[in-house]
Amino acid sequence: MTGEFIRACAVADLSEQGTFAVELGGVPLVIVKAQGEIFALDEFCTHEDVSLADGEVYDHTVECWLHGSCFDLRTGKPTGPPASRPLATYPVRIEGDDVYVSLSAS
Ligand code: FES
Repeated sequence: MTGEFIRACAVADLSEQGTFAVELGGVPLVIVKAQGEIFALDEFCTHEDVSLADGEVYDHTVECWLHGSCFDLRTGKPTGPPASRPLATYPVRIEGDDVYVSLSAS
C-alpha cells in the first residue's frame, strides 16, 4: 500500500480551518484545511487519545480541546504541552474535487 493514494474526502468537505475525520485502510486520520493547504495526520492526540477532529485549527496548528496540546500540521510535532510525542503525517494529493492521502507516513 506504500505510496498508493486513497480518496479521503471531497475538498468541499473541508471548510477553511476545518477538520474531517476519516478511516483509511484501518488508520484513523484527521484531514485539516489551514492556510489554504490540506494536511493529513493521525486522528488522535498523542497525550490521551482524544480526536483532533474536535480540536481548534489556527495558523499551521491543531490544538487538542482537552488539555491544549498543540501540533504543527506540517510536521506533526508537538508545539505545546502536555503532548510530547509527534503525530504521524501523511502525503496529500488533490485530484479534481477530491482529497487523496497516501498511508506511507512521513
Ligand atoms: S488529550 Fe490532547 S492534550 Fe490531553
